[in-house]
Amino acid sequence: MVTQSLHSEYMGNMPPFAVITGASRGIGAEYARALAAQGYDLLLVARDQSRLDQLAGGLHQTYSVQVWTETLDLARPNAGSTLYRLAQSHRPHVSLLINNAGFGMYGVFSGMPLASIQDMLQVHIHVTTESTRLFLPDMMNQRLGAIINIASVAGLFPIPYMAEYAATKAFIISFSEAVGMEARESGVTIQVCCPGFTETDFHQTASHRPRHILPPQTPHDVVQTSLNALKSNKTLVTIGWPGVATQWMARFMPKRWLMRLTSRFVRPNSLPSH
Ligand SMILES: NC(=O)c1ccc[n+]([C@@H]2O[C@H](COP(=O)([O-])OP(=O)(O)OC[C@H]3O[C@@H](n4cnc5c(N)ncnc54)[C@H](OP(=O)(O)O)[C@@H]3O)[C@@H](O)[C@H]2O)c1
Repeated sequence: MVTQSLHSEYMGNMPPFAVITGASRGIGAEYARALAAQGYDLLLVARDQSRLDQLAGGLHQTYSVQVWTETLDLARPNAGSTLYRLAQSHRPHVSLLINNAGFGMYGVFSGMPLASIQDMLQVHIHVTTESTRLFLPDMMNQRLGAIINIASVAGLFPIPYMAEYAATKAFIISFSEAVGMEARESGVTIQVCCPGFTETDFHQTASHRPRHILPPQTPHDVVQTSLNALKSNKTLVTIGWPGVATQWMARFMPKRWLMRLTSRFVRPNSLPSH
């Protein structure tokens, strides 16, 4: 079991150490709770310091693990390098990196604010790529560790009215699968976790709650499936039967049909009909 081997083998008696971005709420906070319960020391990163501190205090009290927090806007240039430097300032060896921070946007691409598109490219693509590049070599040298990059089932095919979101998540899937195969013999697991519609603040932040045919997932479902899948070194992880169904549709349905179908569900009602 990967989590046990991280416990027993990692750096002698030192507890395993996980770095989680976007840990102030939602899926990231759930990873923090699950890993603290397994005895991980944690570095929690996001912009909302008070939420991070509240979570960290509770986890330290309940599980007696060390929890550090760092306020960092990952949309800033070179945020991946800053993240690495911050992690190094707490512990030289990271057992588990979770690139979870992210946000959604819905609407017609030609009308999207350019600054928000740039922030999304930075948080989803640059930070994931740069931090994987920076954290991976030490894990490979230790022949131990894992990186979980959070993508989405939205990255399995193009989606009108969330074009940039689906495309950045498609990048994360392709990138993680390729690097995962390169790292396969090194003892390091790269997982790309693809949640479906999950009940978090994500939809409120994106100012739109798309209609869905598949049942919603909970952060608990996502995190338990993801951490369990580390045991089998699986690279692409979806959640439950809705995840399998979406993968199946992405593989076998003609792309135009799929795009037409999904755009009906994600298209904001406020858009004028054509
Ligand atoms: N919920 C879903 O339906 C769903 C489905 C598929 C995939 N996902 C993916 O799951 C991941 C987590 O989302 P969630 O559902 O847990 O949403 P959430 O509750 O809104 O959490 C998003 C997290 O990302 C952090 N974040 C966003 N922008 C940031 C920035 N510029 N710098 C630093 N931190 C930033 C937020 O922290 P601060 O606001 O404190 O900075 C927050 O902790 C995302 O990558 C999302 O794309 C979600």
